[in-house]
Amino acid sequence: MKRKRTHPRRPITFTVGSSAPTTNNSPSSPTKKRKLSTTQRINEFHALTKRLAHIQKQIQSTNQSQGQLNNHDDNNEETSISHGTTNGTLEDEAARVKEAIEALGGLHAYQRASLKGGDESKGRGACGKWLVGMLNKYVVPSRDGMGSRKSEEKEESAKKVDRLKLLDIGALNGATYAKQRAWIDAEYVDLNPQHANVIRQDFFERPLPRNKADLFDVLCLSLVVNFVDDPERRGIMLMRARQFLVPSGLLFIVLPLPCTKNSRYMTHERIVEICKAIGFEEIEFHFTKRLSYHLWRRVEGHNTKKAVSVEKKMVNPGAARNNFSIIVK
Ligand SMILES: C[S@@+](CC[C@H](N)C(=O)[O-])C[C@H]1O[C@@H](n2cnc3c(N)ncnc32)[C@H](O)[C@@H]1O
Repeated sequence: MKRKRTHPRRPITFTVGSSAPTTNNSPSSPTKKRKLSTTQRINEFHALTKRLAHIQKQIQSTNQSQGQLNNHDDNNEETSISHGTTNGTLEDEAARVKEAIEALGGLHAYQRASLKGGDESKGRGACGKWLVGMLNKYVVPSRDGMGSRKSEEKEESAKKVDRLKLLDIGALNGATYAKQRAWIDAEYVDLNPQHANVIRQDFFERPLPRNKADLFDVLCLSLVVNFVDDPERRGIMLMRARQFLVPSGLLFIVLPLPCTKNSRYMTHERIVEICKAIGFEEIEFHFTKRLSYHLWRRVEGHNTKKAVSVEKKMVNPGAARNNFSIIVK
C-alpha cells in the first residue's frame, strides 16, 4: 500500500518568470511562527537565500545603470530619483527576505537541520562511504608525480600511495572521514563550523595554491554547490576547485537529486558538459533516492585560459521543474 505523504512537496527554487519563492511561506510574514520539518526548513532556507541573491543582483544592475545614466546627465534629478525609488523597493524586499531567513534561524539553524537530515545512516555518512569505496577503486597519483596508473596496477600502486590529502569544503561537523584517518589526511572547512575540527573559511576566499604542498588529491563539495545562490558563482566554485587538485586529482560533488533530475536547465548530460568545459572527466556517478553523486577526475592539458563557456540553456521545460543551473564563463 502506498504511504500517505505527511507534508506537501515543495520545489526548491522559483517558478519560471516569477520572482517569488515557490514555497508557501511568504517572506512578507517573517515573524509568523510555524512548525517546520527538517526538509521543509532546508528547502525554505534555500528558496529564501536564492530570492535574496536574485534581489541583490537586481539592486546591483539598477545601481550600475543608474551610474551610467548619471554619467550621461549629472543634472537629471528626475532619473536619479526614479531609480532611487526602484532600489528603495528592492532594498525593502531584501530586508524582508533577510528577516524571514533570520526568523527561520539563519545559517546556523539550516546547518543543524542539515546535520539532522544527513546523519551517518542517511545523507552525509552515505556520501562519504560511497566516496571511500571509489577511492579504493581509483588511485590518485601522489604529489611527487608518480603519474596515472592503469587499473591492473591498482593494487600495487595503492600500496605506494600511503596517504591521501583530502579537502572537505562545507564540512559542517568534520567527522566524515574520521574512520579512514589511517590513510586519509582530511582538512575540513566551512563558512560556519559546527565542530572544532572544522576551520572557518569561505572557499571563495581561500588563497590559491602557491606550491605542491597546497594541493589535494581529493576535494569534496557535498551539498555545497547547490548552497551557492548564483549559477555563475557555482561555475567559479568548480573552476576554483580544479586549481586545488594535483594532476588527475578527484573532485567529488553531491547535489540534491532535483538539481540533476528536475531542473529546467540541468540534466546529467549537461553536468557532464560542464565538467568537460572546466577540465574534468566524469569517471563515476550514482543516483540515490534523494541525491546525485558525481566523481570527476582532473584532466591535464586543459587550457583554462580558453575555457569553453556553458550558458544557461532551457533543456527540460516544465512548470513543475526548478531553476537550478550552473554557468561556466
Ligand atoms: C547542506 S550543508 C552540507 C554539509 C555536508 N557537506 C553534507 O554533505 O552533509 C552545506 C554547507 O556548505 C557550507 N558552505 C557553503 N558555501 C561555502 C563556502 N563558500 N565555503 C565554505 N563552506 C561553504 C555551508 O556553511 C553549509 O554548512
